[in-house]
Amino acid sequence: MKHPEPATRGSGKIPTHTGLLDRPLDFLVEDHLRECQICAVIDSLATTATLDRTHVLCVLRFLNEELNVHLRDEVEDLFPLLVARCLPEDAIENAITRVRVDHDEALRLLPDVRASLSTCLDTGSALSQEERKVLTRFAGHVRGHLVAENAILLPIARVRLTRADLRTLSRHMRSRRGLPERPETSDAE
Ligand SMILES: [Fe+2]
Repeated sequence: MKHPEPATRGSGKIPTHTGLLDRPLDFLVEDHLRECQICAVIDSLATTATLDRTHVLCVLRFLNEELNVHLRDEVEDLFPLLVARCLPEDAIENAITRVRVDHDEALRLLPDVRASLSTCLDTGSALSQEERKVLTRFAGHVRGHLVAENAILLPIARVRLTRADLRTLSRHMRSRRGLPERPETSDAE
C-alpha cells in the first residue's frame, strides 16, 4: 500500500513524513531541509531582542524529538554502509570524518542550547549575549553537516548503496522511530 506524501513536502516546516522512510535517502534529504528551516529559526532567536515563545518551542521539539534520531540514522547506519560499499577513489572516509566534526560539535553544544532555551521558556527571560553566540555556533555546525552530506555523501550513497542496503537502512530507520517493519519491503529508492 502506498503511503500518501504530505502536501507540504519540501517546506521543512514540519517533521519529515514517515511515509518517506521507504526511500531512506530521500527521507534524509527531507530531514536536511527540515534542519535548514530550524537553523533559520535558531538564527532569528539569536538575533532578535524579543523572545518568540513559539519559535523556542518549535526548536526544543526538534532538538528533543528529531535531531538525535537523524544523527543516529547517519552514524549508525548510513556511514557504515558507505564505508562498506565505497571504492578507494571515493575517499569516503575523509568525507565522513569532515562531517563527523560538525556532528560532534553540534552534539557538544546541544545540552547548552537546550538548557538556554528551556530556561527562557520557563522564566520569560531574554537570551544572554553568550547564549546567543552558542546558538549561532550550534546552527553553523548543524548547517555545515547537512551541506556536506547533501553535496558529497548522499550523491555517493545513491550510486554505491545496493537495493539490499537501502532496504536495511529503511528497516533500521523505521525501527529507530518505533515503526513496525513493512510486510513487503520491495526495492527501496
Ligand atoms: Fe544529516
